[in-house]
Amino acid sequence: MSLKERCPVIEFKDLGDERGKLVVIEGNESIPFDIQRVFYIYGSDPEVVRGQHANRDSEFVLINVAGTSKVRITDGKEEFVVALDRPMIGVYIPKMVWKDMYDFSSDSVLLVLASTHYDGKEYIRDYQEYLKEMTENEG
Ligand code: TYD
Repeated sequence: MSLKERCPVIEFKDLGDERGKLVVIEGNESIPFDIQRVFYIYGSDPEVVRGQHANRDSEFVLINVAGTSKVRITDGKEEFVVALDRPMIGVYIPKMVWKDMYDFSSDSVLLVLASTHYDGKEYIRDYQEYLKEMTENEG
């Protein structure tokens, strides 16, 4: 499976009507995991790069509920960029996939749904270490 196939952009159902928009995300239904944690990132300047890590145990879905940002996704071999530019789309990031978030608009609110409670020890923050682990796990 290609990296893009492993990290699909999910289009959530828009239940809006003349009163406004409404987007619902249910764990294990519209996204492939139970939601254990929610956090959001805002107030990041456009030149800031966030993320810059892979997680051994956590899966994520990233959604720009306001404004826009970009996510660069790589497994050390393939790489692609998702523009999070609408509140009804999210990108799924499985375990052991590296992500960088950048190009934040001034009004960006990046909502992150996570499959685990926070544990700083499951983060790989050194890209060389990540590449080493990925190569070791190949065969
Ligand atoms: P960090 O992982 O660097 O943020 P990002 O990857 O989104 O750029 O997290 C910033 C700080 O917040 C760091 O000290 C860890 C802490 N933190 C938590 O305590 N719980 C969490 O769920 C997250 C995502 C971060």
